[in-house]
Amino acid sequence: MLLLRFYKALGYVAWSFALGLLILPDVLAQPTQSRQGMVASAHPRASQVGLAVLKQGGNAVDAAVATTLAISVVEPFSAGIGGGGFLMLRLADTNEIKALDFREKAPLTATRDLYLNEAGELKSGASINGHLAVAVPGTVAGLFEVHEKQGKLPWAQVVQPAITLAERGFPVTDRLSRAIQGRQDVLSQNPAARQIFLPQGRVPQRGDRLLQKDLAQTLRDVSQDPQSFYTGTIAASIAEDMESNGGLVTLNDLKVYQPTWRDPVCGQFRQSRVCSMPPPSSGGIHLLQILQMVEDQDFQDRWHHPDVLHVLIEAMKIAYADRATYLGDPDFVSVPTAELISPLYADRRRQEIQLQRSRPTQEVKAASPSVLEAIRQQQESHDTSHLTVVDKDRNAVSLTFTVNLGFGAGVVAEETGIVLNNEMDDFAAVPGVPNAFGLVGGAANAIAPGKIPLSSMTPTIVTEDGKLRLATGAPGGSTIITTVLQILLNVLVYDQDAKQAVASPRLHHQWLPETLRLERWGFDAATVDNLEQRGHQIQLGSGWGNANLIVVKPDGSLEGAADPRGEGVALGH
Ligand code: DON
Repeated sequence: MLLLRFYKALGYVAWSFALGLLILPDVLAQPTQSRQGMVASAHPRASQVGLAVLKQGGNAVDAAVATTLAISVVEPFSAGIGGGGFLMLRLADTNEIKALDFREKAPLTATRDLYLNEAGELKSGASINGHLAVAVPGTVAGLFEVHEKQGKLPWAQVVQPAITLAERGFPVTDRLSRAIQGRQDVLSQNPAARQIFLPQGRVPQRGDRLLQKDLAQTLRDVSQDPQSFYTGTIAASIAEDMESNGGLVTLNDLKVYQPTWRDPVCGQFRQSRVCSMPPPSSGGIHLLQILQMVEDQDFQDRWHHPDVLHVLIEAMKIAYADRATYLGDPDFVSVPTAELISPLYADRRRQEIQLQRSRPTQEVKAASPSVLEAIRQQQESHDTSHLTVVDKDRNAVSLTFTVNLGFGAGVVAEETGIVLNNEMDDFAAVPGVPNAFGLVGGAANAIAPGKIPLSSMTPTIVTEDGKLRLATGAPGGSTIITTVLQILLNVLVYDQDAKQAVASPRLHHQWLPETLRLERWGFDAATVDNLEQRGHQIQLGSGWGNANLIVVKPDGSLEGAADPRGEGVALGH
């Protein structure tokens, strides 16, 4: 055993050193700086599009819309107009923070047992691959809504760069090539997807040009009339494709789709006001919950100290246990948001944490209704692929959107070029049975007609003394919440610069499974051993998340960074 530990430790040292030589110069390089505006996204071409819009006199909303549509073209596996998302917006003149929900909704004919066989068991892959996995897309409606209310430039002008990228094509990156390879089995079964993503029957390689002519035409239609997605020619094509292939989304589903402005969830963390996405995302609630549970920690000079990490992990478990019980679409179930983000509740749950011992999953329970009731009565008041854009006035957009898993359901609606989502898998198809992210849920997140599946997307904006401090977010399914949490701690507590804050090694615990995920090579052997001794069941894995971040520095200038785990960039002017 001892010998094994020794070899393990030796391995860590050797690899940390080797990796250090490879990544250190990059990590230590300066983050992107700017006095004017900045765009950070997961793809250089999308960031360039956003920056160009800022330079044309567009505001943060114009640039965010253009960048989002560009991502839909250059990262079709991660997010797009066939999916949905959330947007957080800070308006500079009032310091008001708004949240827009344009997440996909279950078709009106969806039922609770949609993915079960006659024996009541989950049909393998049914909520993941093919037309039945598709929920009603919201991206176009959401982007048009925010642009109509807050954009400055004409709609057609901010859609145009995405049309050009789809029409003229762009060079395939390694990430895109790997994503196609990873979903080749499913994509090859759908004629429209096969034609675009497997031209001549092969996976495009880095440098090959990916053309998306149908998508260009769809975007052209959207630029002339966004409603064509919901009631016009695009809607007709989607509905027809669904009907011929056993999908549930109908013309009527598209016609009644509406995005929703919601009150963000906000809370105080030390001197900062943290605002994030409310339900149907679980992200904002659990981000605030964990921040408040760890707020009293002595963090200073103890970055990644095992005592600090242990408390963070135990707080994560408590939050994810609550998620499995209480979180769902607030238009369908009553979510105790105010109680869960209350500092009183955090005080109470913090006391459960044992400093020397990891509590096994079965010991960590969701809050009992009586505790929530007690909190409710003690409450004083009841206020309640990621991209980040900040403009010269310090309007800010933090936007996370998705088609869920790589290439969504793996199907493209004929003649539209639209990759359709598999967001239905974010529902709890069977109570207690994990979804693709290992997340479990119950009645609160059961399927119902028109209901929104629970999300973990956590676009977040932080202000201090009425001024913008940072905006950030990440992809990564269930890990999104803990990724955003750690980025916030890295900036707000440890004063890391933007580049360090997104590059720093991450850990993740989501209550179930009973596994502590650590990024391999990110934590030294002594720390890993220390956590193991407290009872954490450790799994070392490759990195996750593809965050980006824009920070406002004390002198008012911007500093941005995109995750070195991905291909993105932050660009300023
Ligand atoms: O809304 C959610 O929580 C998921 N559908 C997000 C999917 C995701 O981040 C995939 N990325 N790895």
